[in-house]
Amino acid sequence: MSRPLAVVCLAAGLGKRTKVSIPKVLLPLCGRTLAACALDTADALAPERTVVVLHHQREKVEKALAGRKNTTFVDQGRPLGTGHAVKVALQELADFEGDVLVVYGDCPLITTATLGALRQVRGRSPCSLLTATLDDPSGLGRILRDDDDRLVGIREEKDCTPDERGIDEINAGFYCFDAKALRPALEQLQPNNAQGEYYLTDVVAQFVADGRAVETLETDDTDEVLGVNSLADLAVARLAMQERILLEHLQNGVLIHDPSSTFIDHGVAIGADTRILPCTVIDAGCTIGRNCEVGPFAHLRGGTVLEDGAEIGNFVEAKKTRVGAGTKAKHLTYLGDTVIGQHANIGAGTITANYDGVHKHETRIGDRAFIGSGTVIVAPSRLGNDSMTGAGAIVTRNSAIGDREIWVGVPAKLLKARTGLPGKEKA
Ligand code: UD1
Ligand code: CA
Repeated sequence: MSRPLAVVCLAAGLGKRTKVSIPKVLLPLCGRTLAACALDTADALAPERTVVVLHHQREKVEKALAGRKNTTFVDQGRPLGTGHAVKVALQELADFEGDVLVVYGDCPLITTATLGALRQVRGRSPCSLLTATLDDPSGLGRILRDDDDRLVGIREEKDCTPDERGIDEINAGFYCFDAKALRPALEQLQPNNAQGEYYLTDVVAQFVADGRAVETLETDDTDEVLGVNSLADLAVARLAMQERILLEHLQNGVLIHDPSSTFIDHGVAIGADTRILPCTVIDAGCTIGRNCEVGPFAHLRGGTVLEDGAEIGNFVEAKKTRVGAGTKAKHLTYLGDTVIGQHANIGAGTITANYDGVHKHETRIGDRAFIGSGTVIVAPSRLGNDSMTGAGAIVTRNSAIGDREIWVGVPAKLLKARTGLPGKEKA
């Protein structure tokens, strides 16, 4: 597509139906905010500019979305409707010519493929828009067509006649406009409707009245058009997003035993042949190698890296932790801010005490280390290659356990050097 692209993301609404204090567009969905989901999807089309329209809790939203590429934020002032919002956005795009793609900050499931297709179908017409046919179209704008099935307008539910309310094809709220056609059309909008708002949808009827056909694209994946207005909607959206994420991993050769009890955030890389066992939670910002095993009942938090063949088992939590190739932590363990070498064995009940109440500290554990069951390692501490701790050892703060040393007791002290070490690939 050779036309330049600008994205306008509408996010000025109040979202009071969620009944929570955080702005609706910042609600979390599989490791991203709702707004970031929509913006990331649009970003994949490489827009030259993105304008996010804000108002309610503007500081919070702007802060959460700061640092996005080619993105500017504009305050709509009192939100007077979707048409008004786009008009305010266009003030930031005064000299822009090309496609203006409108997305909503509360519609997180739209796909890049569909947005790209929406640009394609616009062709030479002033506008294309996305529709869907829903079993329950209530609350949404209805698509009005003439006898030849051509789009003639969009009617908001509150303005519908009873007959029009029976229409099940709805306006999804995604549009691709020709910037040049959009500007004058927005100037003509009037708030003469049931809600007293400037409706973006009214520009469609204007184009048609001017004899300029508006193109439609219907999606048959109705998830794509799901708008989040309540926490119940959020739960539905989360399930759909989770399903997409899990499907992608399954297609990449990740064995997920029970998708219904597996929670994996967006953007987690997982190598082939890795097995994810039931009741496992993997947060955004984790990287998992090939042939690893995670779970059952494991929680990997942001910044955790599992190298190839690492195994994290039952009731193990890892945060900002690097687990070397072939290393195992199979039971009842907390690893925080820890770097572990290769082929180490972290015994059941090992805890890295990384937090002193003010700061977090790092633990380093060498290759082939053998940490006895119930060891507590108070960070910062270092445990060398081939080192070992006895069951129940309390390794106090600032300990430096040398290579091949065995430490035992409370507080842990050097017992002796480790002899008769097993081979590197010990089971
Ligand atoms: C809008 C459409 C409707 C469509 C539906 C799809 C209009 C008039 N109606 O209705 O046809 O079926 O979306 O979800 O466009 N917003 C602003 N500023 C405003 C008003 C809204 O930024 O002044 C933002 C909201 O935060 C939200 C989005 O625009 O992200 C849609 O607004 P909303 O009020 O939910 O529109 P609907 O009434 O649902
Ligand atoms: Ca809405």
